[in-house]
Amino acid sequence: MISEKSNIVPSEFIIVGGTGNLSKNKILPALFWRFLDKQIDAESNIILCDKAIDSKKDFFRELQFNCKEAIKKNDNDLTVWNDFVKIINFVELDVVSGNGHLDLVKILKEKFDENRPVIFYLAIASSLFGDSCRFIRDSGLNVPQSRLVIEKPIGKDKLTAIEINNKIAEVFKENQIYRIDHYLGKETVQNLMALRFANTFFENQWNNQHIDNVQITVSETLGVKERIAYYNEYGAIRDMLQNHLLQLICLIAMEPPSYYEADQLRDEKLRVLKALKPISENEIQTGQYRNFSDELGKNSNTETFVALKVIINNWRWAGVPFYVRTGKKLSIRASEIIITFKNQPHDIFSKFSSDLKNSPNRLIIRVQPEEGLKLKLTSKAPGPGGMRFFPSELNLSFGDTFSDRLPGAYERLLMDVVRGNQTLFMRSDEVLAAWDYIDPLVDIIKNQETQLYRTGTMGPEDKILIEDGYEWIDPKEKEK
Ligand code: BG6
Repeated sequence: MISEKSNIVPSEFIIVGGTGNLSKNKILPALFWRFLDKQIDAESNIILCDKAIDSKKDFFRELQFNCKEAIKKNDNDLTVWNDFVKIINFVELDVVSGNGHLDLVKILKEKFDENRPVIFYLAIASSLFGDSCRFIRDSGLNVPQSRLVIEKPIGKDKLTAIEINNKIAEVFKENQIYRIDHYLGKETVQNLMALRFANTFFENQWNNQHIDNVQITVSETLGVKERIAYYNEYGAIRDMLQNHLLQLICLIAMEPPSYYEADQLRDEKLRVLKALKPISENEIQTGQYRNFSDELGKNSNTETFVALKVIINNWRWAGVPFYVRTGKKLSIRASEIIITFKNQPHDIFSKFSSDLKNSPNRLIIRVQPEEGLKLKLTSKAPGPGGMRFFPSELNLSFGDTFSDRLPGAYERLLMDVVRGNQTLFMRSDEVLAAWDYIDPLVDIIKNQETQLYRTGTMGPEDKILIEDGYEWIDPKEKEK
């Protein structure tokens, strides 16, 4: 059972950087799924803008390949695909010089209608955001129904993020700006809020009296491929930690907002970001997979792995370490949050077994793949042999519960942009608060050695948890 979808009004989707990777791999396949599901209809338009448009035939061939899952779901019938192709237009456009703007203006102005959202998605480097916004204003395309969508990371540090925010703010109002962190669009990430705030029993335990520690692992098996030049500039800290991982921490740690509304939620997340204790040298370690420099073609210290201990300085979380790690070319593709609860205050079974102490209650939130929740408990082993214990599991697999596919993050977020719902998007002060935490941390690692690790492992040997008497709990493949 998937909740009802609500149809959206016909809209203009203008993707700047429209033939690039982000557009081809994420945005357009997401729009196609929504088209297939009839949430977007043929009245909408997609306009792909790029400096130079090469072969459209090759472009569509590649895009069709990226949409193959959706096409297969439609019994390989290409009718809907062909209809989708018809709503796609191309415009050669240089946002810096403005060359090509007349073509875009012509297509758009024919369709302008105050009920039709005009969505500018900047799928380009954040250094071009300022020029693009100026271009949109100077071409008269910032109408009241215009919206701007931008991707993380916004800037490379707080200073550049402020510059970008200011340039954007010269053209767009905050309520027109949608800063995407696609982790917020993931079903399981939204479910974290349902888990905490739509149930009673977890929230009562959700504090330093009951929780011992939290581990967050976002591990990827892939490397960086054609994005290597970008990645070498940003590394795992700016590419993943500054945004996705900090957002996960915020959702786990925030206080309940009064209502599930954009600004209320963002106020609470901001409070968490502001409560983060500045990191110390022994609380962070970085790594790089062995052939990264070879792939890049020059020596580089850029981290492809980062692990750290995050401390939240407030009453709820004082004394609870959040151990966080992410890396490329690791042994498994999995994102998991593990909440480990404290042991019971007194063990009445101590004379039977000491096993209980070694198996604390754990809540495991599997963000992807095989989305679901597990609660690790201790049970009595059946039989007349006295009190013996074994770890047991309550297991909620979303895949098994909801037989239909879970919509991808970009699908949800793009439809929210059309609906004008900013709940799952970052506000500018959140982005700056995240940089406040990250900037000093980047300075620390400049003086640290980036340890090399073998591809297919879980990164360099741990130096952080061991100090506190813990170890990483690695995500597991689904048992067949
Ligand atoms: C992106 C990062 O934001 O998220 C990539 O730039 C990373 O480097 C990707 O691979 C991970 O997203 P997902 O949805 O595959 O976990």
